[in-house]
Amino acid sequence: MSALKIVVCLVVFFFAFCSAGYNHTCPKVHDIQSSYVTNQFNLTKFQGIWYEVAYHDYTQPKLCRCQRSNKHYSPENKKIYDYGSLYCVNKTYIQNLSFALTNVTGYFEGHWPLVPTVVFPDTVVAVQLDARGNYVWVIEFQCVQIFNRIDFVGINFYHRRNNVTTAELDSMFKVARQQGLGEYMDYGPKVTLVDHKNCVYP
Ligand SMILES: *[C@@H]1O[C@H](CO)[C@@H](O)[C@H](O)[C@H]1NC(C)=O
Ligand SMILES: *[C@@H]1O[C@H](CO)[C@@H](O)[C@H](O)[C@H]1NC(C)=O
Ligand SMILES: *[C@@H]1O[C@H](CO)[C@@H](O)[C@H](O)[C@H]1NC(C)=O
Ligand SMILES: *[C@@H]1O[C@H](CO)[C@@H](O)[C@H](O)[C@H]1NC(C)=O
Ligand SMILES: *[C@@H]1O[C@H](CO)[C@@H](O)[C@H](O)[C@H]1NC(C)=O
Ligand SMILES: *[C@@H]1O[C@H](CO)[C@@H](O)[C@H](O)[C@H]1NC(C)=O
Repeated sequence: MSALKIVVCLVVFFFAFCSAGYNHTCPKVHDIQSSYVTNQFNLTKFQGIWYEVAYHDYTQPKLCRCQRSNKHYSPENKKIYDYGSLYCVNKTYIQNLSFALTNVTGYFEGHWPLVPTVVFPDTVVAVQLDARGNYVWVIEFQCVQIFNRIDFVGINFYHRRNNVTTAELDSMFKVARQQGLGEYMDYGPKVTLVDHKNCVYP
């Protein structure tokens, strides 16, 4: 997400501009989370490299590709560090984020180092386990609400592989819809597939 957009909204206090166009508030964590995530989500297994294979985010320029996230769980700091990268036009950009753990399983508060006052809630909606119980894909939902108006909705579809098949993508989208994300996936910027061809990751 572009924290800058949120900051501009907060600073200029021009809420009409900030509204993302939804007629209700952000959904509650447990209304969209799978019961596996609510009851058994394991932060250790959430770590490592994730390729963003699709997203919903009106602040992300379509000129960018190769989006990737490398997550590291720090129990001492009660945080997840997220070393994100993307390639836009000619250049690789690094986006270091950190997410503070909360007392709600699979629900974090995201921070951007450049603008630490901006907090964006991040909910793990669903994960797919492989035969060994490792996480193959994960869906994250970010919803920022300012005075009862949804300002920003982000959905991240992360996979362990950057070469997912259409069938694999479709099964992720199907689960997202089962969890109630369909109205966000169908509105505004819809869902963008990420191009991972010939990427050189940092
Ligand atoms: C919210 O309501 C307005 C006016 O009824 C409508 O035009 C708009 O599409 C609605 N937004 C969503 C996300 O359904
Ligand atoms: C979480 O996953 C790690 C790594 O697979 C494992 O060692 C640990 O036992 C799991 N924790 C729980 C509570 O299942
Ligand atoms: C991208 O690289 C090309 C070729 O090196 C150069 O002509 C162009 O100005 C660069 N664009 C940007 C936005 O840096
Ligand atoms: C991002 O964080 C990592 C680990 O803390 C650090 O090594 C790296 O220099 C940071 N990168 C930027 C661009 O801030
Ligand atoms: C989490 O903590 C907050 C504030 O510390 C508290 O209001 C809330 O009830 C707690 N939630 C759960 C699920 O324990
Ligand atoms: C994706 O790439 C991996 C690693 O290169 C390879 O093992 C796997 O077969 C590929 N899968 C598909 C569906 O192309």
